[in-house]
Amino acid sequence: MAYQILVIEDEQDMQFTLREALHRRGYEVVVAGDGSQGIEKLRGGSFDLILLDVRLPGVDGISLIPKIREIDPMAVILLMTAYGSKRLAMEALQAGAYDYFTKPFHMDEMYVVIRRAIEKRQLLQEIRELERKLHQQYDFKNIIGNSGSMREVFQVVQKITDTDVTVLICGESGTGKELIAQAIHFHSRRRDHPFVKLNCVAIPEGLLESELFGHEKGSFTGAINRKLGKFELANKGTIFLDEIGDMSLTTQAKILRVLQEREFERVGGSETIPIDTRIIAATNRDLSKAVQEAKFREDLYFRLNVVMLFIPPLRERREDIPLLIEHFIRLGNAKFRKNIQGVSPDALALLMSYAWPGNVRELQNYIERATVLSDDPVLRPACLPPQVSHPSPGAAPPQAAPTQNLKDIMSDLEKQIVLDALSKTNGVQVRAAEVLGVSERSLWHLVKKHQIDVGQLK
Ligand SMILES: Nc1ncnc2c1ncn2[C@@H]1O[C@H](COP(=O)(O)OP(=O)(O)OP(=O)(O)O)[C@@H](O)[C@H]1O
Ligand SMILES: [Mg+2]
Repeated sequence: MAYQILVIEDEQDMQFTLREALHRRGYEVVVAGDGSQGIEKLRGGSFDLILLDVRLPGVDGISLIPKIREIDPMAVILLMTAYGSKRLAMEALQAGAYDYFTKPFHMDEMYVVIRRAIEKRQLLQEIRELERKLHQQYDFKNIIGNSGSMREVFQVVQKITDTDVTVLICGESGTGKELIAQAIHFHSRRRDHPFVKLNCVAIPEGLLESELFGHEKGSFTGAINRKLGKFELANKGTIFLDEIGDMSLTTQAKILRVLQEREFERVGGSETIPIDTRIIAATNRDLSKAVQEAKFREDLYFRLNVVMLFIPPLRERREDIPLLIEHFIRLGNAKFRKNIQGVSPDALALLMSYAWPGNVRELQNYIERATVLSDDPVLRPACLPPQVSHPSPGAAPPQAAPTQNLKDIMSDLEKQIVLDALSKTNGVQVRAAEVLGVSERSLWHLVKKHQIDVGQLK
């Protein structure tokens, strides 16, 4: 599709020249003879570029720039000026124009700038799209959980998201602590500023201060340039202190100091820099026990533990397993271009009774792996790893989730049974109905209710 250029220009000769020249280069051109016409055209369509004359009847082009940006914040504007005045040009750039031309100009010169300007617009659009996807990825609706305990977590999260309150997230490995920390950040008013993760155990002691607070050039051997520390990088955003339960006493002391004083200095620097950063900390350890054992400073514990979120292990909220499976199948389908419809009842029973020492992360790995490996549109025990598909004899017997809503369990089971019958009969509905002992009409209703794609099962 040809790029669309809006030309806002009153001189007829110039209109004609631009229209002809740009057409010849394959652009589509819309011409407006004055400011209000230009605005009207802009409201009616989307343009890849706007060529704006600085002197228009009754208004100067520069004063139009804010109005144009109001209608299309990503508009790329090239200003045309007859005066060659540096002052006007600077004003235009300050007002948000991309570049300017001084009349008379060579069309060849103009083409180069036009191409670059359109590229910039495309880049802006791509960035906007990526940002949208990023925010969507951290949407709360992508944090799956309908169990009572997870709903309690979501309730607290909702209350604290838009505040600056310090949050301590506790839970076993793989329960979703980082996911929740990110969701809090991307829903807070700090969302347009950085989310900086600091892994508190991964830093070598000698580099600790520089990692946290940055350093000035030449402050120690090897400090070739000024470097910003994590606290400075997280300015106006959120810093995520991960694995705080495992940090050394030296790190604890440094972090406590910055949390108390809310300011720091770069290594080798004299300037005091205030911090404007929200703190979210996470650990898979029992911090109060670590405090009792004198492994974690009590004063730091109280500073971090303003609001505590405890994410329960997956084995204590098994009713979330079917929802998570569905979610990860959806993700796997999109990622690997597959069309898996669900899991077979026997595979579901195995997944429900497994102990999940690696929690949601482990479940996600198994389901995504099975999604890739399965030739069948329904995931069966054979695509699950042996520890799940062949539980050791001493393992806990399959448990029904005690708090799961009966209606949901029934509906889930019903879907799995219908899927299983359809896949065994290669999607032939008459035969599947026979296997299930229901009429064809009832089967049709079931297929619709559970949104089963029968075509895929053939
Ligand atoms: N409730 C959930 N819904 C959807 N995905 C989840 C959920 N919980 C965790 N996950 C996914 O599981 C994986 C592990 O989550 P995350 O990294 O947040 O865990 P963690 O608690 O920080 O683990 P660790 O303590 O090992 O760092 C991620 O891919 C995350 O997207
Ligand atoms: Mg983590």
